[in-house]
Parts: sequence; C-alpha cells; structure tokens
Amino acid sequence: MNKIISPSVLASDFANLQKEIEMLNQSEADWIHIDVMDGVFVPNISFGMPVLKSIQKHNKKVLDVHLMIVKPDQYITTFAELGADIITVHYEACDHLHRTLQLIRSTGAKAGVAINPHTPISVLEDILPYLDLVLIMSVNPGFGGQKFIENTYTKVEKLRAIINQRGFDINIEIDGGVNDQNIEKLSKAGADVFVAGNFVFASDNPIETIKNLKIKANL
Ligand code: DX5
Ligand code: ZN
Repeated sequence: MNKIISPSVLASDFANLQKEIEMLNQSEADWIHIDVMDGVFVPNISFGMPVLKSIQKHNKKVLDVHLMIVKPDQYITTFAELGADIITVHYEACDHLHRTLQLIRSTGAKAGVAINPHTPISVLEDILPYLDLVLIMSVNPGFGGQKFIENTYTKVEKLRAIINQRGFDINIEIDGGVNDQNIEKLSKAGADVFVAGNFVFASDNPIETIKNLKIKANL
C-alpha cells in the first residue's frame, strides 16, 4: 500500500491560507490535516469551522480532521457537512467512545481515534471493529514543532501486530515531530499515514519536502 502524507495546516501561514492550500494541491500530499483545538482538552486554541470552510473552498485533497476538543459529539455532523472525510476524536476526551464512533460513521465519514503519549494501545482492544484509523500522538497534543517521543515506535509495532492478527483494515497515523529522520522507521514499524506540520511548512521548498517524505515513507 502507498503510504500517506498529511501535512498539518496548523503550521501554515494563516494570512496566506489560499496560497498554502493551493501549494498542497500541487504537491504529492494525499490528505490535509486539520488540527482543531478548544483550549480545554489541550492548552491551545487553533481554529474552527469558519476557517475550515475557507480552506475547503480551495482544497482538493482528502480532509483529515483531528479534533482536540472535549465533548466532540456536538460538532461531528457539522464537520462532516464541512467536508471532513476522516474525523478523529481523542480517546481521552470521549466518555462514550463507541457511540461517538458510530455517530461519525453515520455521517459517511471515516472514524478515527487518537491516543495521547501516556495512553497505552491496550485500551483500544474492544473498539477496533468500529475504527478506520488510529492516530498515535508522538508529542503531547496542543502545539506544532515539538520533539518526537521515541516510545512511539514500540506503540506502532504493537498496534500493527494486533490489527494484522485480527484482520482489520485500519490505518495507523502518526502525529507530532515527524521528519525525514524518523518517517522510514515509523513506516517500517507499521504506520501508514504521516502528519507533518513544521517540517513541511518551515522548509525552504515544502513541495520538495513532501515529495521526499513520501519517498522515505515508501522505502
Ligand atoms: C499537535 C497537532 C499536530 C501538529 C503537528 O497537537 O495534532 O498535528 O500540527 O505539528 P509538527 O509536525 O510540527 O509536530
Ligand atoms: Zn493533529
């Protein structure tokens, strides 16, 4: 399977969003990653629906929405209507995760769950049949540009083994501190979707950077 690159718009220049989205359209990015933060679940506020609506006027890629918010159920239909192809909620933010995932799937979107660095893979055991994607946070959520947490490799290996053993079709997405030094190892450990924010947008040539990440992910 071809590995997927999902650049995070959080690291883009918000004053030039149209230009940034058009750049991503031209690139080999497969998805675009949208980080929604509420200042409650995470200690930062990013952007919400109006900005996403503007992004969608230009975006031609698969829309990968990562909700770092408490009580996500109340906004899932809205994000689906805005064009989200994948909606990922946090395990730590959902009291009734099974219900939330069913709600996501009922909108036609794919259902993802994200786990923080402190959350073990084992808690996902009973929920795997209801999932299309697991997002493993490789930094603490809330900010771009943080250092990658090394324990992520072990988590990816464990999760990939369980998914394969049980025969599920579930993507493993890595989010936080992804760069050209760790993407190949993450890919070999069993991850198939890679979010990259600062590594892409702070580079001199984001289109080339995305291309190189994709090559390394597919080695
Ligand atoms: C962090 C976000 C990430 C972030 C990644 O809370 O979920 O998607 O934008 O940014 P980098 O790649 O800079 O770590
Ligand atoms: Zn994210």
